[in-house]
Amino acid sequence: MTVLGFATKDAVILETELAQYGQVFVTTDDGSYGIKGNVSVVINDLDIQFDAVYSCGAPGMMKYINQKFYNHPRAYLSLESRMACGMGACYACVLKVPESETVSQRVCEDGPVFRTGTVVL
Ligand code: FES
Repeated sequence: MTVLGFATKDAVILETELAQYGQVFVTTDDGSYGIKGNVSVVINDLDIQFDAVYSCGAPGMMKYINQKFYNHPRAYLSLESRMACGMGACYACVLKVPESETVSQRVCEDGPVFRTGTVVL
């Protein structure tokens, strides 16, 4: 199952391609296509156990996924960040780690994919 969220109908991509692998839900913020709202509208209504969760996209949605699947053993966030060096030296892309004041993760070097619950968004 795939849940895709877009701002408007004009931005919708990959629906047909991903439908080859399973059911696809599409949401649009303005309701111009699919279900009105963001992906949380669909995910919150589904009464299923996800075997795995793979997510990428807008910061707000990534924060939602991180919280919703915080302790899920196979839920992943593919994060973006502003980067200066892109090789772990400048710490421009640092994320905090839960319950730590001294440990951090660099999106460029330690990611960009992180398991949910391992970084603070
Ligand atoms: S961009 Fe420099 S440490 Fe990530």
